[in-house]
Amino acid sequence: MLTKADYEKLCDEIWEHNRLYFQEGRPRISDDAFDALVRKLQAIEAEHPEWISPTSPTQRIGEKPLAGFAEVRHTTAMLSLEKAFSREELIAFENRIKKLLVNKTIEYSAEVKIDGLAVAVTYENGHYVQAVTRGDGVLGSDVTQNVKTCRRLPLRLTHGSLPHHLEVRGEVYLPKKAFAAMNEERKQAGEPLWANPRNAAAGSLKLLDPKEVAKRSELSIAFYGAVFSRDVPKLTQSQMLAFLKELGLPILPYVAHCSSIDEVMAFADSIEKKRHDIPFGIDGVVVKIDNLKDFEELGATHKHPRGAIAYKFSAEQAETKVLDITVQVGRTGVLTPVAELEPVFLAGSTISRATLHNFEEVSRKDIRIGDTVCIEKGGDVIPKVVSVDLEKRPSAASPFSPPQSCPACGSPVVSDPQEVALRCSSEGCPQKRARRLIYFAGKDGLDIEHLGEKVMLQLIDNGYVTQPADIFSLTQEQLATLDGFKDKAITNLLQSIEKAKKTTLSKLLMALGIRYVGSQVASSVAKIAKTIDKLSKMTVEDFETIEGVGIKVATSIVSYFASLEHLAEVQALQERGVVIEEAESAAIVPDHPLCNKTVVLTGTLSSMTRHEAIERITACGGHVSESVSKKTDFVVAGDSPGSKLDKAQKLGVRVLTEEEFNAICKFS
Ligand code: IVH
Repeated sequence: MLTKADYEKLCDEIWEHNRLYFQEGRPRISDDAFDALVRKLQAIEAEHPEWISPTSPTQRIGEKPLAGFAEVRHTTAMLSLEKAFSREELIAFENRIKKLLVNKTIEYSAEVKIDGLAVAVTYENGHYVQAVTRGDGVLGSDVTQNVKTCRRLPLRLTHGSLPHHLEVRGEVYLPKKAFAAMNEERKQAGEPLWANPRNAAAGSLKLLDPKEVAKRSELSIAFYGAVFSRDVPKLTQSQMLAFLKELGLPILPYVAHCSSIDEVMAFADSIEKKRHDIPFGIDGVVVKIDNLKDFEELGATHKHPRGAIAYKFSAEQAETKVLDITVQVGRTGVLTPVAELEPVFLAGSTISRATLHNFEEVSRKDIRIGDTVCIEKGGDVIPKVVSVDLEKRPSAASPFSPPQSCPACGSPVVSDPQEVALRCSSEGCPQKRARRLIYFAGKDGLDIEHLGEKVMLQLIDNGYVTQPADIFSLTQEQLATLDGFKDKAITNLLQSIEKAKKTTLSKLLMALGIRYVGSQVASSVAKIAKTIDKLSKMTVEDFETIEGVGIKVATSIVSYFASLEHLAEVQALQERGVVIEEAESAAIVPDHPLCNKTVVLTGTLSSMTRHEAIERITACGGHVSESVSKKTDFVVAGDSPGSKLDKAQKLGVRVLTEEEFNAICKFS
């Protein structure tokens, strides 16, 4: 008779083989023998479902799709790291540390900085119980089921001096190979490609169906530390990594123990040189004080631990040829030169185009068709042309001259004296219209999922969409005629279009792409006007009474709604079922800390977009201003804040971290 104890023994046996395979790289049995053990386990589980443990080797995938991700408060904040871009900045870091740790020998642990997503993973008595994303550092999302699909992640720990409770922190990432395969599949399916492995990993972690996560991705995980508890000895960082490794956890590869900043630099240089051969994306080296007691003693500022710094590599560069220079027409008619490049692999993706920004830049850098150029891409920034290799210039290459007429519709080009830009003068230009439609459905507009540039261009080419409202009457039959659109893609798109029908006035205002109307203006205007009907009847004087709206913006909005065509477009949207929620003013709490306060945003916020931050401030009764002055009440500082933060400090304006801002917004 088979007992539960036999079942558990088999589970442990499989986990042990798993550990030998992934952790030690020396499997004791063949893949076939391993599969046979798993099949045996599956057979037992089919017979005794009551025995199945959530950490059985068969349970990586299997839970039902989630309704959403629960919010979890981190036990200790997940901070970010200060950045250094040069040797000098690393030395400055060392000097700061030396002042704080007087008379102590300082040693470092230098580690690769994996470009993925931070997660906190908890084990209770060796059983995997939870994984939480970093979120805003204080609150993260519960991604337990999805992280479970990472094959290198043990769901049971059986070795080493196992603590009862263990919280480890690390990075979930997508290896380069898996990223390339995933994008190839998306290309075949006509889905938009992920820009880089980090976005792809983030996209996979946010899928609600763990089965999809497992199918579509090969997520991997590596740990770089643990939250201290009574059971976790406070050692050095190098010993900590060894401790985690002994427990059977996947730790970061490429780590060095260094006794000086010079040694750290040598390690960083060696990693940077072999960066292309490392199977996952990295964006630098993390330098940590090795002695964890000292590390803890140094403490943290509101954002970063003092005892660690991220030394970022310079942007990756590649050499390629300019095959052509084409000119794109934007939604406002601005003409942008684009370099069409010989495809080249750079920082995780294949690049075949780079924006040249404007014609002044083309002439300043003297970029010509046929030139060999150096292109650069940092993080997920759009690639740019850095320089031209004049020695490789073909003798026939001649300077590029800007077009006299619009390449899309042939209308004359006008130059805007206030900007460097050249514009197409025609209102009816088909490319301008197409760009407006792409913008309407895009991130800054209604943000309709699955309706990216490629799909929209096809819809326009087929004549299905000529104005925004047409999006809302697309049919299954029409979508079925698009390239690569099969059942699932059709359902997905129709569902997200349906979802987008419910929108807010400020979102719609943004989506219409009215000149000078950014998220801040859209938000304040929506708050006052409340309905699109009232808004379209407001005068320049009415608008000018709104905080942050000047004559230029007011005139632009009024002239937009003076056009019968625009009014008809908005009406058509409503006729096709778009519901514009009334901007809520009732929600404003009169004694809210942000009520009637002027707030300035600087840096990148990790838990929300800029537009969302502005909407929150406006909903609390505050207003957002672009620049810091004595009248500013708060400056919210996100990641990599700019000079606004310095100015706020100089003027003594209260600076809020993202966490504090989040907490204040929740106050009511
Ligand atoms: S230590 C206080 N070590 O970089 C944060 N972080 O900007 C301590 N990261 O969110 C983090 N590789 O997700 C550390 N070897 C490494 C890392 C690493 C990648 C990420 C981490 C964190 C971000 C910090």
